[in-house]
Amino acid sequence: TENSLILTEQHGRVGLITLNRPEALNALSDAMGQQILAAAQAFDKDPGIGAIVITGSAKAFAAGADIKEMAAKSSVQMYISDWFSVWDALARVRTPMVAAVAGHALGGGCELAMIADFIIAGENAKFGQPEIKLGVIPGMGGSQRLTRAIGKAKAMEMVLTGRIMGAVEAEQTGLVARVVPVESLLEDALATAAVIAGMSKPVTMIAKEAVNAAFETTLAEGVRIERRSIFACFATDDQKEGMAAFMDKRPAEFKHR
Ligand code: HXC
Repeated sequence: TENSLILTEQHGRVGLITLNRPEALNALSDAMGQQILAAAQAFDKDPGIGAIVITGSAKAFAAGADIKEMAAKSSVQMYISDWFSVWDALARVRTPMVAAVAGHALGGGCELAMIADFIIAGENAKFGQPEIKLGVIPGMGGSQRLTRAIGKAKAMEMVLTGRIMGAVEAEQTGLVARVVPVESLLEDALATAAVIAGMSKPVTMIAKEAVNAAFETTLAEGVRIERRSIFACFATDDQKEGMAAFMDKRPAEFKHR
């Protein structure tokens, strides 16, 4: 199916969202944010989809929020319209989401990649939070998610100077899960997402929620959340099937996939 600013496709049980605004290096306009969220929420609700991949082009994942669109906005306008809340909603999508990032992932582009559950980067990927050069700061969670991903020293340096980080450093610092050649980036991300989509969807949702709890709470509370979550797994037919299949020495036939 086709939208104006994004393309969506289904590859087996994987939902693919491709940012499609090449003339602006996939700068994230308000309309684009709405389309991304609508597509991700539709995939989230679809039992036929077990994982989502979000990607851009070989040149740009996304070069940031749309500077031309936001330049004239007022603080009050932004406050009243709850501007950028669309990205909070995207972070609440429960289906696992992989970002396949090639080229520029700057400002809101880097932040969008970090809203995904993990990033697979092409060798040419460039991550940065250059908002400081525009007289602002990250606004889609970057000051928080980048700091949690790579630690205070590097996050501070990037946010305060606007320094761009390449793919190798991004992998070394834990910002990305893996670096692959740009030519095979999408194929790799789709294959990785297909592995996830082959598991039980409710159980991958529970796993995502449990890992995300590590960013929200204390160790003791996080472990309590994990404990309740694994007990919840035992309430699924897929737990019974997964363990039965192991004992029968056969592949699991999960019902919810
Ligand atoms: C709007 C953008 C854009 C952006 C690029 N374009 N980035 N338009 N918003 N964020 C547009 C350019 O204006 C240009 O259109 C076209 O895309 C191609 O870009 P070029 O600059 O000609 O390409 P290139 O020379 O290859 O340089 C690539 C680049 C540069 C280094 C990525 O485009 C760049 O620095 N972009 C801005 C990066 C940035 O600052 N991002 C953070 C934004 S703030 P025209 O029509 O002019 O040819 C943010 C969070 C804000 O994301 C939150 C605060 C509240």
